[in-house]
Amino acid sequence: MSTNTKIALVTGGSRGLGREMALNIAKKGLNVIITYNSRKDAADAVISEIEQLGQKAAALRLNTGLIALFDDFFSRVQDLLEDKFAAEKFDYLINNAGIALQSPFAETTEEAFDELINIHYKGVYFLTQKALPFLNDNGGIVNISTGLTRFSYPGVSVYASAKAAVEVATRYMAKELGNRGINVNVVAPGPVVTDFGGGGMEDNEQMQEYMKSITAIPRIAYPKDIGPVVAFLCTDEAKWINAQRIEVSGGMNL
Ligand SMILES: NC(=O)c1ccc[n+]([C@@H]2O[C@H](COP(=O)([O-])OP(=O)(O)OC[C@H]3O[C@@H](n4cnc5c(N)ncnc54)[C@H](OP(=O)(O)O)[C@@H]3O)[C@@H](O)[C@H]2O)c1
Repeated sequence: MSTNTKIALVTGGSRGLGREMALNIAKKGLNVIITYNSRKDAADAVISEIEQLGQKAAALRLNTGLIALFDDFFSRVQDLLEDKFAAEKFDYLINNAGIALQSPFAETTEEAFDELINIHYKGVYFLTQKALPFLNDNGGIVNISTGLTRFSYPGVSVYASAKAAVEVATRYMAKELGNRGINVNVVAPGPVVTDFGGGGMEDNEQMQEYMKSITAIPRIAYPKDIGPVVAFLCTDEAKWINAQRIEVSGGMNL
C-alpha cells in the first residue's frame, strides 16, 4: 500500500496562515492533512477548497497544548493515512498552530506562562518527536516562529521566548534528523492580517501606518505573503535549505 503523492500535515490549518499554507501546499500537488482546535466548520471549508484544487485533504482535531493526547492523535493520523490516503506515512510536518496571549512581563501569571509554553514550545517539541515514526525519510519539517524573536515589543515575553526556543530546537532537529534526509527550517513571519490575537490590524489605520513606517517594503502583510514560502519548503527544490530561520516580514525593523 503506497502512494507517490506526498502528504503534508499542517497544524492549525483551518484558518489564517495555516489555511494559506495548506492551500499553497496543495497547489504544489501534495495531499494535505490539516488540524483544527475548535473551528471544525473552518477546517471543513479548507478541505473543500483543497479538493477543488484536485488534491486529497482531511482534518483532525488537535490541541497542541495537550501533550498527553499526542499518542492518540497519531493513532488517528495512522488510521486516516491508511483509509483516505492509501499511505503509511506522511512527508512534511508544519508546526503552525498557535495563540496570541499578551501579557506584560511584570504581570505574567504562571498559568499564562504554562499555556503559552505548552502550545508554542513543549507541544511543538513533542508533536515533532512523536511524528517521527510516521514521517517518511527525505521529508521535511517547518516550524513557524515570529519576527518577535529578532525585535522586541512589550507584552510578548513568553510568546517570543517560546518561539525562540523553537528556533534553537529547529537547529538541533536538523542536526539529529539529517541522516534521514529530513530538513528542518523555521519561517518567522512579521505581523500578518489574520484573526491572531483577536485580529484588528485590517481596520486599524494607525497601526497600519506604523507597520508601514518600520517596514522596508511599506505595506501590511496578508497570509498569501507567507503560505507560498512554506509551500516551497515542502518541495524537493528546497531540500538543501536546512536549519535556517527564514524571516518573512517585508524587511521589518532593519
Ligand atoms: N498573524 C500574525 O501576525 C503572526 C505573526 C508571526 C507569527 N505568527 C504565528 O503563525 C501561526 C498561525 O497564526 P495565525 O495568525 O494564522 O493565527 P489564527 O488566524 O488565529 O489561526 C490559528 C490556528 O491555530 C489553531 N489553534 C489555535 N489554538 C490551538 C491549540 N491550542 N491547539 C491546536 N490548534 C490551535 C486554530 O484552530 P481553530 O480554527 O480551531 O481555532 C487556527 O487553525 C502561529 O504559530 C503564530 O504564532 C502569526
